[in-house]
Amino acid sequence: MMNRFDDLLAHAATVKDRHILDLFAADPDRAARFSAEFGSWFFDFSKTSIDAAGLKLLIDLAEKTGVAARRDAMFAGEKINETEGRAVLHMAWRNAAEAITVDGHDVMPALRDTLGRMQDFAEDVRTGRFTGQGGRITDVVNIGIGGSDLGPVMASVACTSFADGPRLHFISNVDGAHAHDVLSGLNPETTLVIVASKTFTTIETMTNAETARAWMAAKVTDPAAQFAAISTATDRTAAFGIPPERVFGFEDWVGGRYSVWSPIGLSLMIGIGPGYFAEFHAGAAAMDRHFREAPLSENLPVLLALVGIWHNQVLGHATRAVLPYEQRLARLPAYLQQLEMESNGKRVSMDGADLPWHSGPVVWGEPGTNGQHAFYQLIHQGTRVVPCEFLLAARGREPYLEHQHLLLVANCLAQSEALLRGRSLAEATEIMAKKGLTGAELDRQARHRVFPGNRPSTTLLIEVLTPFTLGGIVALYEHRVFVEGVILGINSFDQWGVELGKELALALAPVLEGSSEGAGKDGSTLGLARRIRAARA
Ligand code: F6P
Repeated sequence: MMNRFDDLLAHAATVKDRHILDLFAADPDRAARFSAEFGSWFFDFSKTSIDAAGLKLLIDLAEKTGVAARRDAMFAGEKINETEGRAVLHMAWRNAAEAITVDGHDVMPALRDTLGRMQDFAEDVRTGRFTGQGGRITDVVNIGIGGSDLGPVMASVACTSFADGPRLHFISNVDGAHAHDVLSGLNPETTLVIVASKTFTTIETMTNAETARAWMAAKVTDPAAQFAAISTATDRTAAFGIPPERVFGFEDWVGGRYSVWSPIGLSLMIGIGPGYFAEFHAGAAAMDRHFREAPLSENLPVLLALVGIWHNQVLGHATRAVLPYEQRLARLPAYLQQLEMESNGKRVSMDGADLPWHSGPVVWGEPGTNGQHAFYQLIHQGTRVVPCEFLLAARGREPYLEHQHLLLVANCLAQSEALLRGRSLAEATEIMAKKGLTGAELDRQARHRVFPGNRPSTTLLIEVLTPFTLGGIVALYEHRVFVEGVILGINSFDQWGVELGKELALALAPVLEGSSEGAGKDGSTLGLARRIRAARA
């Protein structure tokens, strides 16, 4: 059967023994030719094994699979999330000037109204017009999980140097330790709790919200007065007792993992202020325009996706490391794990047939330089190739610590250089001989110091991390996921794979409590449940 990757697989087979360094030797302009730039974002993919013929085949693939038409359908509000019958329009929240129609109805007036209410509320909290029962709000606790947590957490850490509002805290895990550890350091009388849940049914969030309400009720007379809610299900927020003036709704055409731009970003807006939040939106909106207008061969989201396809579907590298050399992007790998793996971790194509190729890769990572002292050993000398994605800002935000930033940058460039270049046995032998080793011991020791090199990496470079550049990075990755999904032929916007575990967890609660025998459950699960029951007795 013809596979859409056949041409690329055939090409990869013909170039598999070639070193990436040979590509640089053959083409002095390689770095310029295999990089692309848009505004504040520069993407270098020259340290990969993609050559001119491979790039052409990749672009052809994007054309053949209809990326441009699908993109236009998404922006036009068509219901491209076919298994849920929904449009995909999270971009509307950062393009508030545009008219957008869903089901023949302009959705923008209501959106602009909510955005205005969010801005007013954020300013009220920041300036002290809205107070807690013990005075000015000093702390905001966002209770949510998945997309209702990871986006605001990631972005609030990234925007630390722009934060001048109340302190932000996040509770996500159903583990009571999380709620306890966050709440026990706070004063209920000056804390605002935001319950963020698209569905307002998620067990973790609703349980933590009840815990926070009880914590507040122990100290203030009207706990609901210090709660706000964000959801698409405003009937449920009312049932929870949160008054409509502090409920910020959004439509179901914003997916959970794409929702940081919507009211789900309220905690971030309170922390950095509506002005910087607008810049976060503006950076993403700029990336949207680029994605819609740039030719595929110069289109950053398309190129990131195609490099990903080359590494995963063509070369068979099952994972990708995301390595931000920027401490404030510490939560970006976790954010991208949800964005990419929940979107493109699917085993059937859009029409329900088994996917004839691999789904998206495992995405993982940590900020540099910390990762260098942890898992880079495997990246450099392990037997499997891990394509690495470096993210880097040319400047730090602390002028008095620029010497440290320079060290950070040097480390980042050194890592991609080391992955590319490696160290041969001859070089390792020479180094060890200089240290005085000879004979069999020299040979043995030298072999441990060989780096195979020829390991691919890309670098996304920005000048400096701001809400604007961050917005562009997040939108870049969102659209990258979209393009990969189109090429793989899957629906990137549903997440049925998370349902089974949720259902089984509910069914296991009575087994753990001892009120059910757990008929039909496997021996391991029952054995563990028995032990846990005994330990808790
Ligand atoms: O775990 C699945 C999921 O539905 C995610 O897609 C979502 O981001 C998260 O749960 C939280 O959902 P909600 O915002 O509805 O509470």
